[in-house]
Amino acid sequence: MVTSSYWVVSLALLACGAAAQWQSGSYGYSPPVYPSPNTTGLGGWQSALAKADAFLSQLTLDEKAQMVTGTLGPCTGNIPPIPRLGFNGLCLQDGPLAIRQADFASVFPAGLTAAASWDRGLIYQRGVEVAEEFKGKGAHVMLGPVSGPMGRSAYGGRNWEGFSPDPYLNGVATERTIKGIQSVGVQACVKHYIGNEQETQRNPSISSDGQTIEAVSSNIDDRTIHELYSWPFADAVRAGVSSVMCSYNRLNQSYACQNSYTLNGILKTEFGFQGYVVSDWGATHSGVAAIEAGLDMDMPGSIDFTSTTSSFFGQNITIAVENGTLAEERVDDMIRRVMTPYFYLNQDQGFPTVDPSSMYLNGFSSESEWVYQFDLNGTSNRDVRANHAALIRELGASATVLLKNTNGALPLKAPKYIGVFGNDAGDLTNSLYFVGQYEYGTLPVGGGSGTGRFSYVVPPLDAIKARAKKDGALVQYILNNTMASTDLSTLYPPAQELDVCLVFLKTWASESYDRSSLEVDWDGNALVEAIAANCNNTIVVTHSGGINVLPFATHPNVTAILAAHYPGEESGNSIVDVLYGDVNPSGRLPYTIALNESDYTIPILNLTNPGPNDWQVDFTESLLIDYRYFDYANKSVLYEFGYGLSYTTFSLAGMSIEDVAGGRLSELPPAQAVVPGGNPALFETVLKVTAHVRNTGGVADAAVPQLYVGMPSSVPPRTPPKQLRGFDKVPLVPGEVGKVVFELTRRDVSYWDVEAQQWRIPEGTFTLSLGFSSRDIRQSATFCALC
Ligand SMILES: *[C@@H]1O[C@H](CO)[C@@H](O)[C@H](O)[C@H]1NC(C)=O
Ligand SMILES: *[C@@H]1O[C@H](CO)[C@@H](O)[C@H](O)[C@H]1NC(C)=O
Ligand SMILES: *[C@@H]1O[C@H](CO)[C@@H](O)[C@H](O)[C@H]1NC(C)=O
Ligand SMILES: *[C@@H]1O[C@H](CO)[C@@H](O)[C@H](O)[C@H]1NC(C)=O
Ligand SMILES: *[C@@H]1O[C@H](CO)[C@@H](O)[C@H](O)[C@H]1NC(C)=O
Ligand SMILES: *[C@@H]1O[C@H](CO)[C@@H](O)[C@H](O)[C@H]1NC(C)=O
Ligand SMILES: *[C@@H]1O[C@H](CO)[C@@H](O)[C@H](O)[C@H]1NC(C)=O
Ligand SMILES: *[C@@H]1O[C@H](CO)[C@@H](O)[C@H](O)[C@H]1NC(C)=O
Ligand SMILES: *[C@@H]1O[C@H](CO)[C@@H](O)[C@H](O)[C@H]1NC(C)=O
Ligand SMILES: *[C@@H]1O[C@H](CO)[C@@H](O)[C@H](O)[C@H]1NC(C)=O
Ligand SMILES: *[C@@H]1O[C@H](CO)[C@@H](O)[C@H](O)[C@H]1NC(C)=O
Repeated sequence: MVTSSYWVVSLALLACGAAAQWQSGSYGYSPPVYPSPNTTGLGGWQSALAKADAFLSQLTLDEKAQMVTGTLGPCTGNIPPIPRLGFNGLCLQDGPLAIRQADFASVFPAGLTAAASWDRGLIYQRGVEVAEEFKGKGAHVMLGPVSGPMGRSAYGGRNWEGFSPDPYLNGVATERTIKGIQSVGVQACVKHYIGNEQETQRNPSISSDGQTIEAVSSNIDDRTIHELYSWPFADAVRAGVSSVMCSYNRLNQSYACQNSYTLNGILKTEFGFQGYVVSDWGATHSGVAAIEAGLDMDMPGSIDFTSTTSSFFGQNITIAVENGTLAEERVDDMIRRVMTPYFYLNQDQGFPTVDPSSMYLNGFSSESEWVYQFDLNGTSNRDVRANHAALIRELGASATVLLKNTNGALPLKAPKYIGVFGNDAGDLTNSLYFVGQYEYGTLPVGGGSGTGRFSYVVPPLDAIKARAKKDGALVQYILNNTMASTDLSTLYPPAQELDVCLVFLKTWASESYDRSSLEVDWDGNALVEAIAANCNNTIVVTHSGGINVLPFATHPNVTAILAAHYPGEESGNSIVDVLYGDVNPSGRLPYTIALNESDYTIPILNLTNPGPNDWQVDFTESLLIDYRYFDYANKSVLYEFGYGLSYTTFSLAGMSIEDVAGGRLSELPPAQAVVPGGNPALFETVLKVTAHVRNTGGVADAAVPQLYVGMPSSVPPRTPPKQLRGFDKVPLVPGEVGKVVFELTRRDVSYWDVEAQQWRIPEGTFTLSLGFSSRDIRQSATFCALC
């Protein structure tokens, strides 16, 4: 419960700590929040908690230590079995778009792609189907979804793993994904909590003279933490997420996995989180201190990845309890937090054993190094793909964003002479795993722990050939970007006479690295210029891990542009479905494409010869990232957040507002006991907005109406002019009218008041804007919540 005494205590401690503040800037240290709250089984977990208690009561102290400490084994993360109790251990596997360490598994569209679909149903189904594969392979915990990084900087190397820099869209996608995953009995682990907005120096390093250079510190003010970075994590807790992974970076100088303010405070007290906090792999930097700050499980359990014995947890927990440094009650709470979701999801009842193939694909250890015995007697090389390719293809198509379409270029109308250009069009050439850094081959996924091991990929060229064959068309191709940019003389008919030239571009992004450019890779811009100079119907498709600037967007011969992000294994089929109009494009941008790279004002901090505490990133832009910044600064952009074309047209009409609360609302939410997610009053609907959307064009397609809230002028400065607070995806046949209803909660119309430490509804007049993107507003209305 958010009692006032908790906040008074934390604020008082903040004031005390201020004297010793780190000097540069106005950010302080994270205020201490102790002790770590106990789980109580809130949110319907009471009977599972009782089972966890019964389990706990049978453990020795050594077993308790073992239950919260990873060990080498067949999975990315392993909690050892306790055969005496019929407990088979826990298998934690990467990652958010595939069970990475597996054969005969599917590779799904990335988080960013899923978000670009703006389709709650498909996002949920992606969660269901990816989790079915984890379960089939015997993985109890899926290390996903990724809700941070949010994409503060356009250069962030992992932005594609997550959903969107908009907290509302990100939060909806997070909630839908978790519900999907856990509906099949697999634990979701939402990550990375919190502020892990750059990869560069995300971990500490050792300088050439042997000094420890601390990891980057994300210095974030309280309002920004609440309204932006923790928003989707609140939604995750509300969705009943089993675990939360704390991140590598520091926050206001203290490591995220031992930050009592964000773990004990925001997560476990304010949001009422009932599950366990697990460290990112190697993100634990202390034992007792981290445990008291709220960390519940250490992964992979050893300080470095090869050691079998050395962990800040493990035996050190036993010693610390025995010598009186650590209360055994806190260790008991850790076990309850780990085992309650396990029982809640019935993982004690016939959960599949780990597929032995996992152990051969494990990059962290080989069997000879293991200390514990795991049950690897189940069937090996299980094929868990079922018919998941169908959803992967559908979601890939549904998430493709049509950015430009002139001269009726798309959909294609049975073109006879087709040119395909670019190194992203063809099949993978070097491997089916870690596909990104190579010159030749399509790019359906990014790199790092969030990648997938393909069992097959449908490259765009193959899918185009198969489709063109039906029309008796001739497909010519040059996949070498250098050659296609300089010498088209081998084409017959020549480029000038082709009906369409399809150019496939790719942009690699990976964990551990940030991007140093927002341009497409492999001189893709020059390739487009060269093709467009010769072909007046040049259509560009990008496969990318995030934002690309598109200098060719205004070229008259570039008739269409499609952003397909990372669509997974059915990449070619998904794009062909859209190109030929078998699926009409209904993806929308989950971020903004600016006119110029220099319009993106938030860089990655990259220091040379830094001192031990020099990696400081002050989030001074506060709430103003992505469209919120461009709107606030009145900057023109190329393609705004929420934008995307269709093969049809839509209109919006009849916007009306219903005051559900029925009278004057209180400025602050009525005090109520916290449920998972926070004060339940924050999630009560206070306002209902309805409107009608009509398909005014000639083909069936889905509209994506979006509702933006403009706060009254009484809000504190630097509030974004418009904030997404509702969206829907409405399939409509020509002429059809659909009703859309947006239910706004108290949180949706509040800001975080740092003095009151509460969500406050501001005085004055709100502007509600309804449209088809953040800048294509068709209807608006005003509303006063406190009048
Ligand atoms: C960081 O410091 C700022 C300024 O003192 C404070 O508002 C904020 O709550 C702190 N954030 C964290 C995560 O400690
Ligand atoms: C948690 O529960 C234990 C008893 O199991 C109790 O000793 C401890 O004070 C409780 N901690 C909190 C923060 O309530
Ligand atoms: C206990 O933690 C220390 C680091 O503080 C580590 O060096 C040591 O190996 C750990 N001991 C065990 C038994 O894991
Ligand atoms: C108790 O054990 C912990 C973990 O090994 C150690 O860090 C701490 O210094 C010990 N305290 C005492 C008083 O022995
Ligand atoms: C797996 O099978 C082996 C050999 O049949 C057997 O010795 C072992 O006990 C089994 N392991 C488990 C955990 O069931
Ligand atoms: C790509 O084309 C360039 C220019 O024609 C040529 O020099 C290069 O060898 C080609 N690369 C491959 C892999 O064939
Ligand atoms: C594009 O080129 C083709 C083939 O030369 C020609 O038939 C067509 O009219 C041109 N289209 C435009 C819009 O210039
Ligand atoms: C950071 O600097 C290093 C060394 O100069 C460079 O290799 C790297 O690309 C830079 N990173 C970014 C994100 O610019
Ligand atoms: C457009 O393509 C045609 C060939 O169809 C070419 O003649 C013309 O120069 C191109 N336009 C530009 C601006 O490159
Ligand atoms: C982009 O910005 C840079 C730096 O401000 C400027 O030099 C360049 O001309 C701009 N490019 C475009 C296409 O506006
Ligand atoms: C943006 O435009 C609005 C309305 O014209 C104006 O009030 C505001 O001051 C401008 N903001 C900036 C940062 O220029």
